[in-house]
Amino acid sequence: MSMKIRKDFLPFSRPSIGETEINSVVACLKSGWITTGALCKEFEDKFCGLTGARQAVTLNSATAGMHLMLTALNLQPGDEVITPSMTFASTINMIAMRQAKPVFVDIDYDTLNINCDLIEASLTSRTKVIIPVHFAGAPADMDKINELARKYSFVVLEDAAHAVGTYYKGIHAGGFGHAAIFSFHPIKNITTGEGGMITLNDADLEKKLRLLRFHGIERDAWKRYGKGGDPSYDIMEPGYKYNMPDLLAALGIAQLERWKELNGRRQTLARLYLAGLQGIDGLDLPKAPQYDHIHAWHLFIIKLKDYFRDEFMQKLAEYNIGYGLHFPPAHTLSYVNSKYNGSSMPLQETNRAADKILSLPLFPDMTEDDVQYVCAAIKEILKNG
Ligand SMILES: Cc1ncc(COP(=O)(O)O)c(C=O)c1O
Repeated sequence: MSMKIRKDFLPFSRPSIGETEINSVVACLKSGWITTGALCKEFEDKFCGLTGARQAVTLNSATAGMHLMLTALNLQPGDEVITPSMTFASTINMIAMRQAKPVFVDIDYDTLNINCDLIEASLTSRTKVIIPVHFAGAPADMDKINELARKYSFVVLEDAAHAVGTYYKGIHAGGFGHAAIFSFHPIKNITTGEGGMITLNDADLEKKLRLLRFHGIERDAWKRYGKGGDPSYDIMEPGYKYNMPDLLAALGIAQLERWKELNGRRQTLARLYLAGLQGIDGLDLPKAPQYDHIHAWHLFIIKLKDYFRDEFMQKLAEYNIGYGLHFPPAHTLSYVNSKYNGSSMPLQETNRAADKILSLPLFPDMTEDDVQYVCAAIKEILKNG
């Protein structure tokens, strides 16, 4: 190593929490009401403002949102759900929980987004839902997906976990008509610690989601325990416990106020990476989709063309640099492979990308020097490799 190694560890991600967030959470703590209440409502209204959706429902994770949506849509055993295999495992888990069947569609190697030209051939009479992922913050080709959804009558459920600030042809993720699920996990573009949100445009479905979100009880606790409220309850149908507390909504509201600033930093850093790593032989850099869009730069994913990834990660660790892996393809995970015969699936580009992808550090409070350091380290590793 000829470079000087940094003393402190550069993590793969770190939430950007400032005084606004701290004050907002402290004010909630002092208010006397910390579980689901007025702040969740405010967060939902503001999220509708961002996405253009008519309704939004706060949750304690995006995974909970996936479970609720697939339940509310009454997905039956044997129903089919189209999804890329290049997604987070939670989606497949929730499909499996409904005894439905994931049908994996291959991706575009350059963007890691679902290849929309392959969707039609994967449809059957049992196809009920498609779950495209706006991968790393770049939108899926929603015109193509929505056109197929209209033609064959299936539901489009956008996985917008990476997509706060993602626009497709001027429309924010979640603003397309059906429904979208956002995640506020700590590495996401805005965070609530853990948390999620469903956006949608269907008042009946919203009612159903709210019911399922909280035990099947029709009225929210804050309405039952308010002055003059009726503390009794009835269960309309068995539900889950997936509500977001106001304490987290307080953090979410403060983060949402900063989304442009936070994403602006991500974009600046991503551009620095692109410039700093351009032209290196051993790497494929992330490519932008061809259609009009705004990238949220949730992740910056390189592909190692020849270098053995395990060894590369070990080298990055020696340089005190963190990394992530988004994602081990779902069809290769043990239970998915054995239950749905993953290894027989024609997922050429997914398999091609699988062993090469690696997510580099990217978070708003990272400095431009940090990016230069990572670029220099990568060059040195590849040169000496
Ligand atoms: C693409 C994708 N979908 C869904 C999820 C699940 O989000 P959560 O952790 O909020 O349940 C994640 C989280 O990492 C994700 O990256």
